[in-house]
Amino acid sequence: MNHQARTPRSRVLATMIAGAFVLCCSTAVLAEEAVAVKADAEAAKKLAREDHCLRCHAVNKKKEGPTYHAIAYKYQGRADAEEKLIKHITSGEDRVKLTDGHEETHKFDTKTDPEQIRNLVRWILEQ
Ligand code: HEC
Repeated sequence: MNHQARTPRSRVLATMIAGAFVLCCSTAVLAEEAVAVKADAEAAKKLAREDHCLRCHAVNKKKEGPTYHAIAYKYQGRADAEEKLIKHITSGEDRVKLTDGHEETHKFDTKTDPEQIRNLVRWILEQ
């Protein structure tokens, strides 16, 4: 009798401790990711300006290219978005066709720092 009464209580306690542990850890991980993923907007805009991205793109105004807002919307919820866009704008495999019919390679200078490119892509995906 005594034994039976004790088992469920210790199990409840164990579950509570485990639950608290999981909650605490996942919150810490989430907080850390949020900090790591948030782009440096000023650096991103500076790079976009210097690398002439803004000639064809704006956050909310349609130019030759889609708005960054539209790109973020298109890739919303896709885990591979960041890698895919980095490849898109660094490989030069994808050419863009402009309204006057001519095509251009759609690509950064190879000397651009990969971390800066990643930051810009993150920022685009936040718009
Ligand atoms: C000459 C005009 C032009 C320039 C300069 C330009 N883009 Fe684009 N961009 C486009 C066009 C047009 C599209 C849409 C066609 C496409 O998706 O291939 C596009 C699409 C994109 C996309 C979305 C791709 C997708 O898969 O939906 C991203 C991201 C992007 N550009 C980033 C950049 C960045 C970053 C720069 C600066 C290094 C840049 N673009 C410079 C014209 C340009």
